[in-house]
Amino acid sequence: MAKLTVNENGPLKVEGDFTLTDAAGNTYNTEGKKAIFVCRCGATKNPPFCDGNHKNCGFEGPSRAF
Ligand code: FES
Repeated sequence: MAKLTVNENGPLKVEGDFTLTDAAGNTYNTEGKKAIFVCRCGATKNPPFCDGNHKNCGFEGPSRAF
């Protein structure tokens, strides 16, 4: 089972049993990774993965479940 965590003002953390594909169905190589961080801000230079640029672009992404 995969667990997805929406990080406050940051990326989406994906861990567990998952496969990440692009819109065409091609699979990203995440072999050996226990977790990945998917960009939510759009500022990454390595899409779809977070590269830390959300800290520099003023991204605000609240993450509270109600
Ligand atoms: S969320 Fe980290 S670079 Fe976009």
